[in-house]
Amino acid sequence: MSPSEKQVILSGIQPSGNLHLGNYFGALQQFLHFIRSGHRCYYFLANYHALTSLRDGPKLLDLTWGTAADYIALGLDPDKCSIYLQSDLPEVCELQWILTTVTPMGLLERCHAYKDKIAQGLPSDHGLFAYPVLQAADILIVSANFVPVGQDQKQHVEVTRDIAQYFNSSYGEVLTLPEPYIPQEVAIVPGRDGRKMSKSYNNTIELFASEQEVRRQIFSIETDSATVAQAKDPDRSNLYAILKLFCTPAEVAEWADRFRRGGLGYREVKQAIFEKFMERFGPARRRRAELEKQRDVVAAALRRGVEQARAVGRPLVQRVRDAVGAPKMSLL
Ligand code: TRP
Repeated sequence: MSPSEKQVILSGIQPSGNLHLGNYFGALQQFLHFIRSGHRCYYFLANYHALTSLRDGPKLLDLTWGTAADYIALGLDPDKCSIYLQSDLPEVCELQWILTTVTPMGLLERCHAYKDKIAQGLPSDHGLFAYPVLQAADILIVSANFVPVGQDQKQHVEVTRDIAQYFNSSYGEVLTLPEPYIPQEVAIVPGRDGRKMSKSYNNTIELFASEQEVRRQIFSIETDSATVAQAKDPDRSNLYAILKLFCTPAEVAEWADRFRRGGLGYREVKQAIFEKFMERFGPARRRRAELEKQRDVVAAALRRGVEQARAVGRPLVQRVRDAVGAPKMSLL
């Protein structure tokens, strides 16, 4: 399903690690698609969400600058979309509080991002539990129609819809119900060990690591012990799944054929991935290196972005406050 009219698009990434192929194919590629098709796009850095997993101020700040530069280098043009920091839009937290008051406990108890973290033995604090409500506020504050995300975030967008519905049924139609946007073919990007690519599994291929490090990561993609001569089943190969991300349909068919015929070694496939990676991300990597020295360019983009988000966010929060009976008395 591709939205036809001009729609409001919003998505966010936590600046809690270095961007990797999973972020690119699972999310950023869709972000770019929406910009190119002329929609109203808001892409922000969820630095308050990142506090649920990172308690190191200087490191978070550093990652935040870095991820903002990554966004811009990858083509999220601040002239064509709004890029901002969640912490620069305090109305989000105000909205979050109001939303918590219409959010049933059971709704949050069912969220698997929370359940998974608990299962991993991470300390459970209220921030982790309330995480989806802050995410709902991020989305609802700009009245987003579509939220491009990876498969793992689908539930959070559904929870956002539920919360918006609870609010609207109590207070009237103030909030817009968003839909997740997850193209089928790239819903899950496999990591080096075959599990979903994720910084928490330490199985990523990073977009902006040094060339040597990228090479190391690609060459450490796990394979079975088949010899060069042996025929291989592409559909059971993690390497093939990663290679496919970079290929046209014709190339995919050709590689699949070579896997099946035998005589193809894994080294050759890894080398091909490396070359395609550099071809695809070379321009962004060069732009990223320039931005490293141009913090003022990044800061200016973030300032402009948050002004644009605020221009729609403030009036929305005002309507919400009016609806619940907490208007700004100073304005009456
Ligand atoms: N939870 C998202 C993630 O970890 C990040 C996020 C926060 C987000 N707020 C959002 C994504 C709003 C989309 C919309 O990837």
